[in-house]
Parts: sequence; structure tokens; C-alpha cells
Amino acid sequence: MNRIVFATNNAHKLEEVRALLPDYEVVSLADIGCYDDIPETATTFYGNAALKANYVTTKYGLDCFSDDSGLEIDALNGAPGVFSARFAGEPVDHDNNIRKVLEELKGVTNRNARFITVIALIRNGESYFFEGTVEGTIRTEKSGEGGFGYDPIFQPNGYDITFAEMSQDKKSSISHRGNAVKKLVQFLESDHI
Ligand code: IMP
Repeated sequence: MNRIVFATNNAHKLEEVRALLPDYEVVSLADIGCYDDIPETATTFYGNAALKANYVTTKYGLDCFSDDSGLEIDALNGAPGVFSARFAGEPVDHDNNIRKVLEELKGVTNRNARFITVIALIRNGESYFFEGTVEGTIRTEKSGEGGFGYDPIFQPNGYDITFAEMSQDKKSSISHRGNAVKKLVQFLESDHI
């Protein structure tokens, strides 16, 4: 079976991707004994995804893909963007991040936003990128208990509930991450191998 590294230790992401790639043995960073703090110092999702995948391929000589995601809010000129996880500072605190977004959007009528995921794949020495997005709006207060991160304040276009009020399956079927993973899977399952 084809073996490929997914540069993550996030159990949820691994499970989701493994289910979509039955012909591959998808292994995590822990599975290959990588416990390094891989730098994510780029200023774009593409840059950070590429940094992580390149790190693994260079150090371990293995084909690898990695993802980087975040929330872009138009009225905040695209913030928090690549700083989504640490928008309200260290350590990562999703409640504080949400509070900060709601504070900065107080009285703002343009609440358009999108989640973005970029997956970088390095296969046989070649780099490929897959992008997934989902457009939506930022609510004025939190709603729902599911999901993580900014889910309680993000309402995808075409729905009147937030990501935090959706089932995981429903969210994956329309989400930025789901869309990017679908493109990766399509590529890996095609003749490019
Ligand atoms: P990551 O690159 O997937 O780890 O995402 C970085 C940060 O973006 C997370 O810590 C969250 O703050 C935010 N984020 C990414 N995807 C989602 C999502 O699906 N829902 C809510 N927040 C997300």
C-alpha cells in the first residue's frame, strides 16, 4: 500500500483523511517519530503548509502533505488570517479569540468572512497545492456547542445556523478543510501517482 505522511498529530484530522483515502497508509508525525516543533513562520497559508511538508520530506525522505487553515474577515482586512490560532495571544484560547473578533466587529455592518485551508503535497519531489474555502458571515454573538475555534460565530452562506450548530458530517461536506481534502483525494486517486 502507498504510504504517505500527513504532517499533523490532530487525531480528528487524521481520522477524517484516512476515511477518504482507503488505498493509502496515512501516517502521522508521531508515527514516523517526529516530535519536532516545526516552524510555521510564513505569512501565508501556502507558505506555512509548504514549510511543514518540506520539513518532513527533507528530514525523513518521505512523501508528505500538510495543511494550514484560518479565518479571513473582510472588515478586518483579512485578519486573523494566518494568526487565527493565536489572535488573542498565547496560549491558544478559542474563547478569547472569539471575544476579540466580536469586539473588533462591534457596530460593523460588513460581516463577510471565509475559512480557508491550503494543503501542500510533496510527492516524488514535486510540490502541489489544494485550496478549499467556505464563505459566510460573522454573527454578533456565539451560538452552538459543537466544532472548535471560531465555529460558534461563523454562519456559512445558505444556512441560518453556525458551524457549531451543525453535525460534523454536515460541516465536513461544505467546509474549507473538507473541500481541500476532496481535491487532494481526487488528485491522489487519479493517474498522477
Ligand atoms: P489549523 O491550521 O487547521 O490548525 O487552524 C488554525 C486556526 O484556524 C485554528 O486554531 C482555529 O482558530 C482556526 N480554524 C481553522 N479551521 C477552523 C474550523 O473549521 N472552525 C473554526 N476555526 C477554525
